[in-house]
Amino acid sequence: MGKTIIISNRLPVKIYKNNGEFELKQSEGGLATGLGAIYRQADNIWIGWPGMEVHTNESKEEIAKRLAEINLRPVFLTQEDINCYYEGFSNEVMWPICHYHPTYAKFDPAYWQSYQEVNAKFRDAVLQIVEPDDIIWIHDYQLLLLPGLIRAVHPDITIGFFQHIPFPSSEIFRLIPWRIEILENMLGADLIGFHTFDDARHFISSITRLLPVHSVSNVITYNDRPVVVESFPMGIDDKKFESMPGEQSVVDQINELKQSFDGFKMVLSIDRLDYSKGILQRLEAFDLLFQQHPEYIGETILYMIVVPSRDTVPRYKELRDEIDKVVGNINSRYRTLNWSPVHYYYRSVTPDLLSALYSMAEVCLVTPMRDGMNLVSKEYVASRTNNTGVLILSEMAGAAKELIDAIIVNPNNTHEICQAIIQALNMSREEQQQRMKKLRSVVSKFNIRHWVKIYMDRLNEVKHLQESMKAK
Ligand code: G6P
Repeated sequence: MGKTIIISNRLPVKIYKNNGEFELKQSEGGLATGLGAIYRQADNIWIGWPGMEVHTNESKEEIAKRLAEINLRPVFLTQEDINCYYEGFSNEVMWPICHYHPTYAKFDPAYWQSYQEVNAKFRDAVLQIVEPDDIIWIHDYQLLLLPGLIRAVHPDITIGFFQHIPFPSSEIFRLIPWRIEILENMLGADLIGFHTFDDARHFISSITRLLPVHSVSNVITYNDRPVVVESFPMGIDDKKFESMPGEQSVVDQINELKQSFDGFKMVLSIDRLDYSKGILQRLEAFDLLFQQHPEYIGETILYMIVVPSRDTVPRYKELRDEIDKVVGNINSRYRTLNWSPVHYYYRSVTPDLLSALYSMAEVCLVTPMRDGMNLVSKEYVASRTNNTGVLILSEMAGAAKELIDAIIVNPNNTHEICQAIIQALNMSREEQQQRMKKLRSVVSKFNIRHWVKIYMDRLNEVKHLQESMKAK
C-alpha cells in the first residue's frame, strides 16, 4: 500500500507574516484541529491552502520548503480565487445551503466558474505526487468536484471523500443551479462519509432524485461503479485534552483565571464567528436569565470567545457588529461595580488558555443552529478529568447523537436554553458525575484514532467490493 494523501481547502497550519518573516500557526475549525493530530504518520502528505495570498515565486518557494518539513504541500490561491472560490462559492453558496440558510446564498456564475478552476488547481497538485497505490482522502465542501476530477485521470485509484458540515434535505440542495455537476463529481469517490446518519440519508435522497443512479440501501451504482455512502462520527484526540490540565503552563493559566473569576460561576461559550453557531440566540438566553432570575446577577458570568473567521464575507461582518451590540447591551444593563455578565473576546485562543477554560467552566454552552459535528463539546468533556461540569448541547449538532447525557436543547428555544442553564448551575455533584462519566466514555471510545481507522478500513472494504463486482 502506498501513502495517504489528505486534501482539504485549508492546511492544518496557516502562514502569516510577522516583522517581515513567515511564521506558522494552527488553523481554526474542526477539520484542522481533528485531523491535525494524526496526519504525520509514515510518508503521508496533506495538500491545502496555507491561508494567505502569496505574491512572489521566491516567497512561494520559501513557504513550500518550510511546509515540506512537516509533510504539508501548499496550493496557493490568488486574490480572485479567495474572493470567488473561497469566500464566494464555498462560503456564500455551499455553506449557507448546507446549514439551511438558502436565503443567504448568492448563486453567482462567476463564483461557480472559480470553484471549478480552483478544484482543478487542487487536482493538478494531487497529480504531481500521486502514485497508483496511494489512497486519496478529500475533505469538505470546498472540494466537492475533486473526486470526479481525479477519477477522470486515474480510473482505479482509491478515493475517499468526507464532508464535515451537514448535508441538507434534497429540497434545499436542489436549489443550487449546479447541483448535478456537484453530485456527479462527488460520486468520483469510492466512499463518501458524513458525521451522521441523517446527513448520509439526505445525500442519498439528493442523488437518487437528481441523478440516474441505481441504489440499494447505501450503495449507489453510477456509471457502473458502486460508491458507498455512510456515517462516521468524528472524534477528538481525547488523551491530549485529558492530559493538558496537568501541564504547568495550563495550571498557571487556571490560577490566573481564578484570580479574576473567583467566587463566580463560569459558563463557557466558544465558536468561530458564524451565523450557524447560534451565538445571538445564546446571548438572548443569557439576557432572559438575568431578566427573569435576578438572583444570578453578580453570581454567574458568560465567558464567550468568538474566533475571527471569514470576516470579509458580508454576513459574517454583520454578525460581528450585531454581537458587539448585543453584548454591550447586556453588559450595560446588568453590570455591577465588581461584576460583568458577559466577558466577550473576539480573538483566537492558545491551546493552554483553551484547556484552562475547559477545566474552569462549570458549564459549557454549545448551541449551534446547525453543526456537522461540533468538536468543542467533545473537547470540554475530555478535559473534565474529575468528572464534574455540565454540557448543554444543541440537538442540531451532530455530536448530540452521541453525547446523549448532555442537557439537550433546541437552539431556537431561548426559554429552554435559559432553563437548561439554571438546571446546569444547580445540578448536584452526583448527577454531574453520573452524566460526565458516561459522556467521557463515549468521547474516549470513539476518538480520532478510532474514526480514522474505521473510515480507512471501510474504504479498503469498498475497494474489494468493487473488485469482486468487476470480476463477475
Ligand atoms: C469548518 C469547516 C472546515 C473549515 C473550518 C474553518 O470546520 O468544516 O472545512 O476549514 O470550518 O473555516 P475556514 O473558512 O476558516 O477554513
